[in-house]
Amino acid sequence: MPNNDPSGGETFVAKRFDGKAALITGGSKRLGRETALALGRAGARLAIHYNSSKEPAEALCEELKGMGTDAYPIQADLGDKGETATLFEKAWDRMGRMDFLVNNASIFPSGRLDQMGLQDVHENLQVNAWAPFVLTRAFWRRLKGTQDRGSVVNLLDTRLVGGDLAHAAYHLSKVALSELTTLTALEFAPELQVNGVAPGAVMPPEEFSDDYLDSLTVDLPLKRRGYPRDISDATLYLLGASFVTGQVIFVDGGRHIRLGGNT
Ligand SMILES: NC(=O)c1ccc[n+]([C@@H]2O[C@H](COP(=O)([O-])OP(=O)(O)OC[C@H]3O[C@@H](n4cnc5c(N)ncnc54)[C@H](OP(=O)(O)O)[C@@H]3O)[C@@H](O)[C@H]2O)c1
Repeated sequence: MPNNDPSGGETFVAKRFDGKAALITGGSKRLGRETALALGRAGARLAIHYNSSKEPAEALCEELKGMGTDAYPIQADLGDKGETATLFEKAWDRMGRMDFLVNNASIFPSGRLDQMGLQDVHENLQVNAWAPFVLTRAFWRRLKGTQDRGSVVNLLDTRLVGGDLAHAAYHLSKVALSELTTLTALEFAPELQVNGVAPGAVMPPEEFSDDYLDSLTVDLPLKRRGYPRDISDATLYLLGASFVTGQVIFVDGGRHIRLGGNT
């Protein structure tokens, strides 16, 4: 991918997470990998969850170990209720503790309302909303009654504002996850802080070229594309922010305010 990232590749968040343990779902590729590497650079130890991407997950763990941090791959199908129910405990036991959870894994199937079935809604809700909730609740249950604290970031989507008719069931699941971000921030405080990052299109689906992103910039207030680093910066900020909960940061070049009418 050509990289004209205005950040010059420098990370925005300088806070150190030495010794902290993090579980990131769908962490082996794309945005998850970027966030995992940013956490590793900040000193965190990582459980890299994957479903089908075993080799990329193992390769990322080796890369992280080469940077001097501990990392190990952990597999689970978040479409499977049983595997979802046990993932957090397995990761905790392997790491010895947990400080951060990044709910990044997602499915993104195309489909409009005309053809949408209950099964489509169910599949999207299971992976994109129910699994993050179950993992967050398991995290809280571990911390409840202790003085330890944890931080969760849910990956949402700028299209929470304005809808996504081309991915209707996906959209419903991200709306559910957005509401769960608020509810869990309230119900699982003070043990957990729960926040969200709502990315704009920064990394197109694998079948799209990078030109697709450039074609979208004309409608953005900031008139340029975003980069994976923009998303990982926001995620690391929220993980380390000690007085922020129930917050969603839109990292989208201003798309959501344009669609909100503030142009
Ligand atoms: N890319 C963007 O520009 C963009 C824009 C808006 C929002 N977002 C959000 O940001 C997050 C990351 O985006 P992305 O594009 O990097 O995600 P992605 O590549 O579409 O998916 C991330 C990972 O999710 C995992 N996953 C899918 N189904 C799973 C299942 N049944 N069980 C367990 N894991 C499963 C996959 O792991 P395996 O490969 O191991 O199977 C996949 O690598 C997502 O939540 C997405 O909705 C991204």
